[in-house]
Amino acid sequence: MPALHSMRLVAQVLTLSGKVAQRHAADHQPQRAVCRQPARQHHRLRALTAQSSAPSASTTGSGAATTQSPEIEAAEVEAAAADARQNGSPSFSNMKVYGLQEENWEKAALSIVVVGASGDLAKKKIFPSLFALYYENMLPQNFKVYGYARSKMNDEEFRDLIAGSLTCRLNDAGDCGKKMDEFLERCFYQAGQYASEDDFAALDKRMADGESEQSCADRMFYLSIPPNIFTTVAACASKAASSKCGWTRMIVEKPFGKDSESFQELSAALYEHLREDQIYRIDHYLGKELIENLTVLRFANLVFEPLWSRQYIRNVQVIFSENFGTEGRGGYFDQYGIVRDVIQNHLLQILALFAMEQPASLDAEDIRNEKVKVLKSMGQVRLEDMVLGQYRSRTTRGTTLPGYLDDDTVPPNSITPTFAACSVFINNARWDGVPFLLKAGKALANKAAEIRVQFRHVPGNLYRNKLGLDLDKATNELVIRVQPNEGIYLKVNNKVPGLGLRIDTTRLDLTYKSKYQATLPDAYERLILDCINGDRRLFIRNDELEVAWEKFTPVLKEIEDRGVQPELYPYGSRGPVGAHYLAAKHGVRWGDLAADDE
Ligand code: NDP
Ligand code: BG6
Repeated sequence: MPALHSMRLVAQVLTLSGKVAQRHAADHQPQRAVCRQPARQHHRLRALTAQSSAPSASTTGSGAATTQSPEIEAAEVEAAAADARQNGSPSFSNMKVYGLQEENWEKAALSIVVVGASGDLAKKKIFPSLFALYYENMLPQNFKVYGYARSKMNDEEFRDLIAGSLTCRLNDAGDCGKKMDEFLERCFYQAGQYASEDDFAALDKRMADGESEQSCADRMFYLSIPPNIFTTVAACASKAASSKCGWTRMIVEKPFGKDSESFQELSAALYEHLREDQIYRIDHYLGKELIENLTVLRFANLVFEPLWSRQYIRNVQVIFSENFGTEGRGGYFDQYGIVRDVIQNHLLQILALFAMEQPASLDAEDIRNEKVKVLKSMGQVRLEDMVLGQYRSRTTRGTTLPGYLDDDTVPPNSITPTFAACSVFINNARWDGVPFLLKAGKALANKAAEIRVQFRHVPGNLYRNKLGLDLDKATNELVIRVQPNEGIYLKVNNKVPGLGLRIDTTRLDLTYKSKYQATLPDAYERLILDCINGDRRLFIRNDELEVAWEKFTPVLKEIEDRGVQPELYPYGSRGPVGAHYLAAKHGVRWGDLAADDE
């Protein structure tokens, strides 16, 4: 290793070990929780949220390197990676996981507990993501995975259960089968009740046995369970199975309540057992590649930021659609509906990242402070600015696609919306008067998630008479295609090559699969890794949710109190007609429904 490089690395290690030590010291505060302990007063929440807004140590290593020139930093990255390749030591990216502390990396022990391990999400997303991280050497050397649920299983049966969902999709170097076996050997199962401290104590003992060779083990719990048992599990796990010397963190899945009141209760109950810095509230849309890229696109390019305001942007659309119904999840879905399931969290989080001001730094608290500010500036969501729909069955070519009410787990006369669109305004200097249109629906014509930025018409356009009568068609539109076929494209007007002057609208296109070879990591991989790394940038802070619920609770209550009937739309269609009127009310059109956007 070149001397200069070694010295810098040592300096970074020293700086970061200080930061990590501080973080560990904070994480080790003893817990006072008891299972089923009653929730305290809600007013504690604000104080805790305020505390959590204080800047925290970054553990990614980039903070320590900020005084270097990009060239030196890049050279060091390459040198570290080359060194790692040559000596078989952990790769640079692995070392980043534990803050560049090679020594720690080797000693680090991590027990990962998936609570609700027998469930759908665990099988579909969590175990495959853990395997993908293992395959990519992103987990610390001494990690073990423990499944916890009530179902009776032994380790072998548990391994069989999860083996079926592991895939070798990630850059398979031919050793995937071997890696899978190695991964499964590190997976164990502990059956237990969610409200039993004794059962969690048994899990603790099991983990302690597995960790005994290590000096100190951290513990990460993923609560992949129904929301009504979140706090019971948080209480039992923190009381009986917290790490004794390392950190203890809990990833909590949505839904975070159903309205402001239930959210406050859930929060207060979680705070009985955990500090804000131990709670990782997951919104998996924040872990999607294109959503993480939003801030890069805005703040690392000169061309976009000056256009990012009411001066040039006519409207912004955040669109989610699925080409399948609630199949299998109707029971859960019916209690929530599409507004709570997708709009109030996934789409609102995207809106916040899209519209926020530039944060003071990339520190989690700086970013989340800006998100909260923009959400606070958002007006209330109003019923008159909302369209609700529910899919009905449809028969095409002899095949009947079931309606929402045909789902056995859905009550027969349910009026729960499976589609919703709404418009909101952000009342600040940047966005005043710009409609933000949010739309989400199940059982539509296609599966997509995208952000569409429609720009204003070109003033005094010299080519107006060449663009046809419909100027909307010739308006610049920036599309950030979150999924599928991830990409970014900008619709521009261009002269058709050849004699004469004909103009058409075409695309400047950055389609990821054409540009980048690598398989994109699943959102859950990124988020689990961030939790291990103590990076909370892509997790939701309590006060973000507080504001998000404040904006949606009144309208949700009004919909329920008035028993608003959703407009029916056929399975596989483009949704209720009312959505077109909503856009028209603001003088715009849905970009995803434009004929030229196929
Ligand atoms: P499941 O309904 O599959 O539940 C997970 C496990 O919890 C089950 O295997 C079961 O394990 C236990 N469980 C189920 N119902 C109850 C109950 N009433 N009381 C006590 N234990 C129960 O949930 P998912 O895996 O689908 O989801 C887990 C969490 O993630 C939920 O909060 C969900 O909202 C959220 N989520 C799920 C998504 C998905 O795609 N599935 C997407 C986004 C979020 P056992 O009986 O063995 O104890
Ligand atoms: C979940 C919702 O949060 O996101 C589901 O509860 C929805 O209803 C899912 O299907 C969509 O996630 P993705 O990553 O498949 O777009």
